[in-house]
Amino acid sequence: METMKAEVGRRFEALYGGEASFFAAPGRVNLIGEHTDYNGGYVLPGAVDKGVVAAIRPNGTQQVRAFALDLDEECRFGLREEDKPAPAWAHYLFGVCREVQKRGGRVEGFDTVFAGNVPQGAGMSSSAALESAFAFALNELFGCGFDRFELARIGQATEHNYCGVKCGIMDQFASVFGRQGCLMRLDCRSMEFVYVPFNPAGFRLVLLDTRVKHQLVGSPYNDRRLSCERVAAVLGRALLRGATLDELEAVRDRISEEDYRRARYVIGEERRVLAFCEALERGDGEAAGAAMYATHRGLSQDYEVSCEELDFLVETAAACGVAGSRMMGGGFGGCTINLVRTERYDRFIGTATARFKERYGHAPQVYDVVISEGARRI
Ligand code: GLA
Repeated sequence: METMKAEVGRRFEALYGGEASFFAAPGRVNLIGEHTDYNGGYVLPGAVDKGVVAAIRPNGTQQVRAFALDLDEECRFGLREEDKPAPAWAHYLFGVCREVQKRGGRVEGFDTVFAGNVPQGAGMSSSAALESAFAFALNELFGCGFDRFELARIGQATEHNYCGVKCGIMDQFASVFGRQGCLMRLDCRSMEFVYVPFNPAGFRLVLLDTRVKHQLVGSPYNDRRLSCERVAAVLGRALLRGATLDELEAVRDRISEEDYRRARYVIGEERRVLAFCEALERGDGEAAGAAMYATHRGLSQDYEVSCEELDFLVETAAACGVAGSRMMGGGFGGCTINLVRTERYDRFIGTATARFKERYGHAPQVYDVVISEGARRI
């Protein structure tokens, strides 16, 4: 983050002159509770030590001048709804400005240079990092007075209304509320959460990034959400949260086979998150890991958001005696998250890297997970 801050600051001075304020917001991991947030279920994310850093200063106009350092590209836009800029990356910034305004917050023109080091398409929420950094920054600079929950909702609404993804609240929540060394168990129905210190003795947490992002026709993420909503409606519920497998069986002939499997995954995941948390409390890394494998099976076979490369990495982890492994995030590419006994770590990374490379022609990227702070001024 310090290096990015220096680079962003230098470029800000060169482009716009003078001093700026600096803000940062992280990407996230999620231990378990996948595709549960928009169903009102539980999630267990933590912020990571990779994120977005922005230098920013109000410019006394009604124009935003934004420079994306990683793309070496500037975009200028106004703050009214009809001013939506063309580049996709600028939709995140524009959306945040608009969502702040819709909630009664004052936003005026500003200059900004930003950069990020969350790998894109890895399922680590680079977009939430961007939204949270700007929501946090605008809130401070223009004195909007929003609390952290509202900042997370501003990021989520940006995805919904300006980026076309009907995401849940997990990523923005984790990016805004992250705390060093702690996971957060969030109940996405009540929005109550607890910080869970995460330091399982004798284990390490590592991500293996397949570095593939499958091109998909249509919007499979939004489709999954629609399946869940259809089943909830048949069950006479607002959300799938709290539904039981018995209830699901009872309506099986009234829903499609596909919707049935989607809901079966989501209902099962609720139990697995709680089992995982109980296992962690007992210090039983192996039992926690078993829940991760079960989640992966559900995501792969019932929810169908995995892909061949992710399945291959999870199978390799199992073959190497890794305690827990599963795909992480929205899916269709990106990372696996692995809970590994320290003494098995080197062998696992060596084997997984070699086998993956032999099969797919490139090595997966390895990221050790460092659970870090959420959005902040730096
Ligand atoms: C994406 C979404 C989140 C969540 C996950 C899957 O990261 O942004 O809201 O639904 O997928 O758990």
